[in-house]
Amino acid sequence: MTSSVHPSSSSLLTREGDEKYANVNWEELGFALIPTDYMYVAKCKQGESFSEGKIVPYGDISISPCAAIFNHGQGIFEGLKAYRTEDERITLFRPDQNGLRMQNGADRLCMTPPSVEQFVEAVKQTVLANKKWVPPPGKGTLYVRPLLIGSGPMLGIASAPEYTFLVYVSPVAEYHKVSSGPLNLEVNDKYRRSHAGGTGGVKSCINYCPIVKPVLEAKSAGFSDILFLDAATGRNIEEISTCNIFIVKGNIVSTPPISGTILPGITRKSIIELARDISYQVQERDVSVDELLEAEEVFCTGTATVVKAVETVTFHEKRVKYKTGEEALSTKLYTMLTNIQMGVVEDKKGWVVEI
Ligand code: COI
Repeated sequence: MTSSVHPSSSSLLTREGDEKYANVNWEELGFALIPTDYMYVAKCKQGESFSEGKIVPYGDISISPCAAIFNHGQGIFEGLKAYRTEDERITLFRPDQNGLRMQNGADRLCMTPPSVEQFVEAVKQTVLANKKWVPPPGKGTLYVRPLLIGSGPMLGIASAPEYTFLVYVSPVAEYHKVSSGPLNLEVNDKYRRSHAGGTGGVKSCINYCPIVKPVLEAKSAGFSDILFLDAATGRNIEEISTCNIFIVKGNIVSTPPISGTILPGITRKSIIELARDISYQVQERDVSVDELLEAEEVFCTGTATVVKAVETVTFHEKRVKYKTGEEALSTKLYTMLTNIQMGVVEDKKGWVVEI
């Protein structure tokens, strides 16, 4: 497989060195691939266990043109982050949850997954091998992308005879640029992301390509992102292109339920717990567009996004503005979550894994 990405000169410069940091301009991180030194690769035959994986130099891989991932999109990816704390520890946030989610996705797509233990171990090894690429505290995080693909050839419709489990990493800033402020969302009533019985509830590669066009259309109309509605009725809100959504009214925080059409976000789950800790009532239930338009505050959550305030929502011709800034619940929850992730406060929940 030939990708458009090749090891950068900076990664070549730092591969052999023992510098604390790679040669990256940390002030200018965005959410785009910066190739690092190493990646993890393991393979298995369908239904068998994965071999012990190897850390190898980051680069292109060779794979059959008939691979199930290329022809039928048989693939799942995950996203989690490694953090460098002020006291120089390298940590992960709830990596077992990503391993479990990959297993659920693999079941839906008839793939053979790694065990949760192997998943977590692979993530640890890849992060440690690329330690110098973990940004300094406050400058960003190391985004970890585990990938499970049907790498064996499959011409007909069946599951692949061979699977490849890969982990690669890239230093990143938050997905929606902090400097560009809160989001201005368009409620998209033209395209649907997911439907009952489909794959919207697992992190399948095939969920993402179809949302590029609606996102680009919204961006060219001046919006920062889009919010999809449910396919069955077109009346309830479901998910933003890459993250989950919450609305706030009074003491009640509401978010669409995990019923197979939205992604069970790990940040979503953590934020629900943190909001309950500070006495908000959190309801996981169908949320109508009408309720969204009447909410006091709206925010979204995701690994890449973290917690991000929504400033406006536009539905058809109607535009509604929400509370943002220091007083907003999303600001409080962002601080609570990132303080745990960055080791600023004690992790009383057992979410942080030091490596
Ligand atoms: C993540 O938040 O980890 C995601 O997978 C979103 C990504 C598609 C940018």
